[in-house]
Amino acid sequence: MFSPELIQQFKSIIGDNYVFADEETLQHYSHDETEKLSYLPSVVLKPKTTEEISAILKICNEQKIPVTPRGAGTGLSGGALPNLGGVLLSTERLNQILEIDERNLQVITEPGVVTEELQNAVKEKNLFYPPDPQSKGSCFIGGNIAENSGGPKAVKYGTVKDYVLNLEVVLPTGEIIWTGANVIKNATGYNLTQLIVGSEGTLGIVTKIVLRLIPLPKFDLLMLVPFHSVEKAGEAVSAIFCAGFTPSALELVEINALKITSDYVDNQTVPVHDGIAAHLIIEVDGNNQDVLMQDMQAIAVLLENYDTDEIFFADDAQQKEELWKLRRKTAEAVKLKGYTIEEDTVVPRAELPALINGAKALGVEHNFDVVCYGHAGDGNLHIRIRKEGISNSHGNAEMTGILAELFKLVKTLGGTISAEHGIGLIQKTYMPIVFDEVQLNLMRGIKKVFDPNNILNVGKIFDI
Ligand code: LAC
Ligand code: ZN
Repeated sequence: MFSPELIQQFKSIIGDNYVFADEETLQHYSHDETEKLSYLPSVVLKPKTTEEISAILKICNEQKIPVTPRGAGTGLSGGALPNLGGVLLSTERLNQILEIDERNLQVITEPGVVTEELQNAVKEKNLFYPPDPQSKGSCFIGGNIAENSGGPKAVKYGTVKDYVLNLEVVLPTGEIIWTGANVIKNATGYNLTQLIVGSEGTLGIVTKIVLRLIPLPKFDLLMLVPFHSVEKAGEAVSAIFCAGFTPSALELVEINALKITSDYVDNQTVPVHDGIAAHLIIEVDGNNQDVLMQDMQAIAVLLENYDTDEIFFADDAQQKEELWKLRRKTAEAVKLKGYTIEEDTVVPRAELPALINGAKALGVEHNFDVVCYGHAGDGNLHIRIRKEGISNSHGNAEMTGILAELFKLVKTLGGTISAEHGIGLIQKTYMPIVFDEVQLNLMRGIKKVFDPNNILNVGKIFDI
């Protein structure tokens, strides 16, 4: 509990209406989308400007009060969970797109803008901001910066880091900086911009974002390819790239995930008959429809060597949307069926079949259900585990042991433990599997330089 004087100080900075300590608000901000975890903050603050955030952080820094920054609360690794209580600082009122710079193909935005709204706003100018996390309809662009989010388009267009040019950041001490310049090439000193991208709100609070945009591709084509074996589907993924194609999305969904999602969204149009083990969703995009048709056909012919079933081509915008909806809703649907945390493993693409097999073998060995789906073209596989009676992986010794084994396999295959969800609160236990003490101490040192009093999103990514 904070003193009435402190609460009054916050009110005088951001206004009485934006300081919340009532039970309902505290409950709402006590969780994000990470498992069934919940931590109550002492107070929720909703500032509107960079200067207000700076003033708040100055007070918290002086009084060593923990601060947890939060975007839309769609995170999957617990980055926005107020694990130490204290101040929950929401960026939801910093919600303006400030400028679409058509001359330079850039957009300047505040962090509390919903990613899809930003995409739609630039689309009206025939411009494209590709990173499209599945939660794009509700997540904030600021959260995407914090997590270095990906999504299906990453396979051709890269992740958030490939679009961020410059950031305005309030440091934990309250100082305000810009990290770089609004330019597409920059070799001027350490890359502070990229240090902030993916730092999960541990180094500063991003208050303005300059993103690079690209011209909007005119056409896309989408097909759904059923496979009789998940392993073959995994092998086919590499074959597509080795044959010289770069799809704009290449997603894998295992059959049990698809069945669960079809029921959840009440859409049974996708064939899920016996014998099908997994589907690949393959999209190509560009400016020449004929070339795209040729590519799609060539990919379809190539895939005949991988034990496929009848291919389904999405004919119109509605069919495409229905297919994408199935994929977008997978995580939500599977979670509701009792699967715990959505792991975010990533391996070099050609190791995907080995990863799938290894995950399945672990499931048999330890007697749990495992379901796989994800961004196969990136080697980024979401693996989810379900075991009777266990609702959270976090804090469960048996699950922690199983996940450690999974991550050791990932490491052996040359991969790592997060591709796009971040480490946050619940994956930090596993950091020593992929980093040694020398590397972790470098990270701790960086944290200390930015946050000498250790107030901002403490206990995320690693323990100090
Ligand atoms: C997915 C998200 C949730 O790919 O990462 O389903
Ligand atoms: Zn994903």
